[in-house]
Amino acid sequence: MTKWHSIEIGCSSHCDADVLFARTDAGPTGAAELTARAAAAIQSTQFEAHDGLWLDLVGKQDERRIVLLGVGSSARSGRDSWLATGAALLDAMRALRIGSVRLPKSSEIGDQSALYGILLGALLHGYHLDQGRNEDSGASRPETIVIDDADGPNADEALRIANAVNRARAWVEQPANLLSPAIFAQEAASVLEACGATVRVLGLAELEQIGAGALIAVGQASVHEPKLLVAEWRGAPERDGCWDAALVGKGITFDGGGLNIKSRPVIEKMKFDMGGAAAVLGAMELAMSRHARANLVAVVPMAENVIGGRGMRPGDVIRSLSGLTVEILNTDAEGRLVLADGITYAIDHYKPAAIVDIATLTGLITGVLHEEYAGLYASEDRLANALLNAGAATGELLWRMPLTPKQNYLVESSVADVANLGAPGFLGLGIGSPTAGAKFIERFAGDTPWAHIDIAGTAWATRKTSRSQPGATGFGVALIDEWLAGLENERDA
Ligand code: BES
Ligand code: MN
Ligand code: ZN
Repeated sequence: MTKWHSIEIGCSSHCDADVLFARTDAGPTGAAELTARAAAAIQSTQFEAHDGLWLDLVGKQDERRIVLLGVGSSARSGRDSWLATGAALLDAMRALRIGSVRLPKSSEIGDQSALYGILLGALLHGYHLDQGRNEDSGASRPETIVIDDADGPNADEALRIANAVNRARAWVEQPANLLSPAIFAQEAASVLEACGATVRVLGLAELEQIGAGALIAVGQASVHEPKLLVAEWRGAPERDGCWDAALVGKGITFDGGGLNIKSRPVIEKMKFDMGGAAAVLGAMELAMSRHARANLVAVVPMAENVIGGRGMRPGDVIRSLSGLTVEILNTDAEGRLVLADGITYAIDHYKPAAIVDIATLTGLITGVLHEEYAGLYASEDRLANALLNAGAATGELLWRMPLTPKQNYLVESSVADVANLGAPGFLGLGIGSPTAGAKFIERFAGDTPWAHIDIAGTAWATRKTSRSQPGATGFGVALIDEWLAGLENERDA
């Protein structure tokens, strides 16, 4: 099983230091018996309690060690800023080599959502994938954050979210030799089953039987056979047979490009090409762990796209599960192929009210939206707006891109129903277009309300943010669950 760590949240009595929060415009917040000492230290050192600054008060004998952490002015608010405080807390613990700290009670911090945000931020920043290095890096590892018993529910909620996000990140960071489609499917199945889902995993023989020619074509050069994971959650049994949403995630465990082989410095990053799959699995975990009152299905095509004598070739024409034929103009445009069969499977078996697919689909989106925004394409405004709002709420930002029938020519083929590469256009730059990718997938969604999220730029962070250290971000996990929760609330209203 892919193994990762984060900090623990405990209620134990021992810890190395107490944390107090200092504001630029008010006294320090925390246990009354400590605030006087902290206030005096702030005075004497003229500590400016800007966001993320800290002051280490070691104390005399018998005095408790206090770490003062700046949180800016009391006007500061919002989930993101408290996540950043959680990150700063871990920075301080690492720098000061402190293993365990006690936090003030939420009532002492004041803001009700503050403690939740701090704990979530700390859990996301405390995340670390067990990579199997033999030599200790020497880095200090924060271990425990101690909270007041009364704040248990707050901590449970932060842990629930962080666990799903961190699990998704671990899968994304896990090297492809250790996460083949078979291993990924098995691990995902065991996690989702434990949450109450009904899971089946289709192997090559079944995929051949049903005619999932696009997924098969992508995976056929690899020694690792492709898999299609299907996970059902019946959270609204009174509406049995009505499927509220289907989530489809791109699960390319390694994207070497196939015959259109990738090269450095991109190819060595391509273990991350199942970030969409990880997002879908994480979102399902979240939805189930809050007992979502909806009927949901996740369809996750998994394959390895590598070079090999049995692989598809540029120029091949394949038959997808939908029956639409596809001209393969580039074996590296494989994500849209596996999504096509995933979406068809979802429509054929579930007739879902909406489909959301999420994928590390195109390199070009990363040069336009970079790491802050994922590209959103949608067949309708309502669905687009609901997703935009969900992302704004969780801090996983989306930017909507245009999708119109005027762009149909982008994926026209002279020999098959559709081509897997965008029209080159006058300058030849259209071939890697994220929009062409969306236009391709749109053909398979048909009339079902559908949205596509291109996370090629957001699935991996090269810089530290409020939500993660550099590395896999888990982008989409919380966002998609937030959207699902919104659907349920809307129906109840
Ligand atoms: N997984 C890649 C997308 C990608 C590329 C993400 C580079 C991050 C960095 C996808 O399968 C791919 O190869 N896309 C091609 C599409 C093209 C051949 C139409 C791309 O973006 O170059
Ligand atoms: Mn590719
Ligand atoms: Zn890919």
